[in-house]
Amino acid sequence: MSLARNLLLKAADSQWIADQMSRRGFARRAVRQFLPGEEVADALAAARTLAGHGQGSLVTQLGEAIGNLDEATAVRDHYLEVFAQIKAMGLPTWVSIKPTQLGIDQSMDACRDHVMRLGKAASDTGSSLWIDMEDHTYVDRTIELYRDVRSRYDRTGIAIQSYLFRTPKDIDGLLAHQPWIRLVKGAYREPASVAYPAKRDVDMAYYDGAIRLLTAAAKGQALPVFGTHDIPLVRRIMAKARELGVDPGRYEIHMLYGIKSGEQEQLARDGETIKTLISYGNAWFKWYMRRLAERPANIWFVMKNLVG
Ligand code: FDA
Repeated sequence: MSLARNLLLKAADSQWIADQMSRRGFARRAVRQFLPGEEVADALAAARTLAGHGQGSLVTQLGEAIGNLDEATAVRDHYLEVFAQIKAMGLPTWVSIKPTQLGIDQSMDACRDHVMRLGKAASDTGSSLWIDMEDHTYVDRTIELYRDVRSRYDRTGIAIQSYLFRTPKDIDGLLAHQPWIRLVKGAYREPASVAYPAKRDVDMAYYDGAIRLLTAAAKGQALPVFGTHDIPLVRRIMAKARELGVDPGRYEIHMLYGIKSGEQEQLARDGETIKTLISYGNAWFKWYMRRLAERPANIWFVMKNLVG
């Protein structure tokens, strides 16, 4: 793992830096590159604009571990309302959630109930529910949640991270459930005992995972979603999809709002199914640090502004 990435991911856990960043205007302005606004209405307005260009989207509220189960219930109710608004606005928009926001640390049963309610809402509104993957300590429980919700509701998917050694086995284990899987490289600071430290290995594992998923898609066993901004990799995956006879629409490409926007539009014009994940909310610090860590040149920008 590069030094800069490591530093930024460490900084994500620092309360001091969180306080400093939240007070500085530069951070608030900079974060706007990645989120259209703090309110759900801002995210849905951006989703409507994208829909006007023929692009689908996902929305997600920022925030991670919550303090108690009442907060988890509030997050669930918030997302139920978001599904209702998506339906009322007729948007081609899905919803992505984090298990820690829905109480996985407090009670697996309560979290499962919330995910089930949201899976039903996704199904009733013709939208879709996606479960993000957090750090490696959550993988078993997150997969268990997904298996449960998937057993009842089709329009559900899960993120899987190529940096984890266990991922090929996890993909194979999920295939029996005809999964929708969003393959990502992985955004957390993980120990070398569980994840590839070198980016090159993560990228290679990503392509291997992509082939595994496309091979399953060719047999109608999975909907692969490639969640990456790595355009050369995306092009290689698209070529492999053609070779395996998997047409656009039987796999999708998802990217984050504000990153590689021109490339997203171009891929949509090329006939690919592209969706943009739009975040909103005021708990942006940790999330923003992970975005910066994905482009370590940004560390100098942060240091200069914090010191200056
Ligand atoms: P990579 O890091 O190889 O970069 C490829 C190119 O994109 C480079 O040119 C780079 O500069 C540019 N780029 C990448 N990130 C950038 C940024 N933040 N700002 C500017 N340029 C950037 N992770 C996770 O652990 N759990 C999850 O559930 C999800 N969910 C998720 C959904 C979607 C739709 C996406 C796109 C990503 C995630 N991620 C995630 C994050 C993912 O794990 C990963 O950290 C980032 O996507 C960065 O890796 P890339 O594959 O994009 O490419």
